Amino acid sequence: MFDGKAIVSAVAVKSLYKIFGSRPAEAVRRLEGGAPRAEALAGLPATTAAVVDATFEVRPGEIFVVMGLSGSGKSTLIRTLNGLLRPTSGSVEIDGVDVGSLKPAALRKLRREKISMVFQHFALMPHRTVLENAGYALEVAGLPKAERRERAMEAIRMVGLEGWEDKLPQDLSGGMRQRVGLARALAAGTDILLMDEAFSALDPLIRREIQDQLLELQAELGKTIVFITHDLNEAMRLGDRIAVMRDGRIVQIGTAEEILTDPANDYVQRFVADVDRTRILTASSVMEKPHSVVDVNAGPRVAAHALRQTQTSVVYVTGSQKRFLGTVTEDEVGRALRAGRPNLDGYVTTGQVRTVHADTAVADLFAEVAESTHPVAVLDDRDRLAGVIPRITLLSALGGLADSPTTTETADAVPVAAAGKGEPA
Ligand SMILES: Nc1ncnc2c1ncn2[C@@H]1O[C@H](COP(=O)(O)OP(=O)(O)OP(=O)(O)O)[C@@H](O)[C@H]1O
Ligand SMILES: [Mg+2]
Repeated sequence: MFDGKAIVSAVAVKSLYKIFGSRPAEAVRRLEGGAPRAEALAGLPATTAAVVDATFEVRPGEIFVVMGLSGSGKSTLIRTLNGLLRPTSGSVEIDGVDVGSLKPAALRKLRREKISMVFQHFALMPHRTVLENAGYALEVAGLPKAERRERAMEAIRMVGLEGWEDKLPQDLSGGMRQRVGLARALAAGTDILLMDEAFSALDPLIRREIQDQLLELQAELGKTIVFITHDLNEAMRLGDRIAVMRDGRIVQIGTAEEILTDPANDYVQRFVADVDRTRILTASSVMEKPHSVVDVNAGPRVAAHALRQTQTSVVYVTGSQKRFLGTVTEDEVGRALRAGRPNLDGYVTTGQVRTVHADTAVADLFAEVAESTHPVAVLDDRDRLAGVIPRITLLSALGGLADSPTTTETADAVPVAAAGKGEPA
């Protein structure tokens, strides 16, 4: 994926416009100033601006979700990615190749080898078996039957449909049919999957199951996926990043957390108003700066000073490379002082506070926080103390979650106790 200097984006879209109707060039000209499409196109009869000035890149191995209300331009956008639609202006690059410049044969080759599409209504062939449906792209590509069979069977196993390969689509439930659609895309062996409302026709429970399955498969396969949905919860569950579209324009691109905590405008804010934030926000977005942290090599006096300064009854202790070791209570500090100990070795315990990873969903923090006598310690990937979550912070954060998403700023700037080495990571 290196072109000598930088990592090539799997998909790169620049200033893309797709206008339907009679006066596309005029429409682009009018929209370039940034005006909303209804206003810009007033007086241009029978001209629709489906995608307006879209710019984004999709990284290899990423699930990039495009979300927006009906008519916001999602399907049009995704169809320009594989060249089913030609841009009115702007460009689409797949692995560095400008799709707009390809001749029809090259475009067909690109679709066959690089991009598969999964649709909402499965698009299965009713008179063909699951196996034949799953291997369809390979059949079109002219692969010999044995190889087709092998690759299709592997894909069928991946989506959990082994044993169903000789059935017809009519024998399958909706969820299973969609898994055949997914198997067909996987069997094709392309690096890029385009999924347009692929799960939207499914019942909520089935839908969750297949979302989980997609995430599992993705962890293994590392495909580049552009996933379209108008369902915010689905977007937030699946998307590494999410692009929010409104009236043809992309109004924000960010992680679920970024979009929740910092919506670009009122439209996005309204869109995210009823999402279950406790499932999206993580410990790192509600944690506070720990105020009493000392290094294990610091003496009990430093620890005592930290306790006095912060008026708490426990200090958080870190070791080499700022790894979190545990806590020392004020009683223990007193004992270490009386014993004349040079450091806190032997006084650190791990039972006083619970620890959670910075990526833990807020929904999963409640039990830990409830069972921890002191603020829960939040650790990063290298077990360093990233922050703490006092019970009251979690509760007030949740209160705040209901109306204004400003919970990332709860950490104030009280300096860490004068504990020389004991600054938080
Ligand atoms: N082939 C076409 N000819 C004319 N207008 C079109 C065409 N395809 C889409 N449009 C219009 O472009 C706009 C965007 O449509 P698009 O289907 O991309 O939206 P969408 O976000 O996928 O909506 P949905 O959630 O309903 O699928 C709409 O106003 C639609 O009517
Ligand atoms: Mg659509």
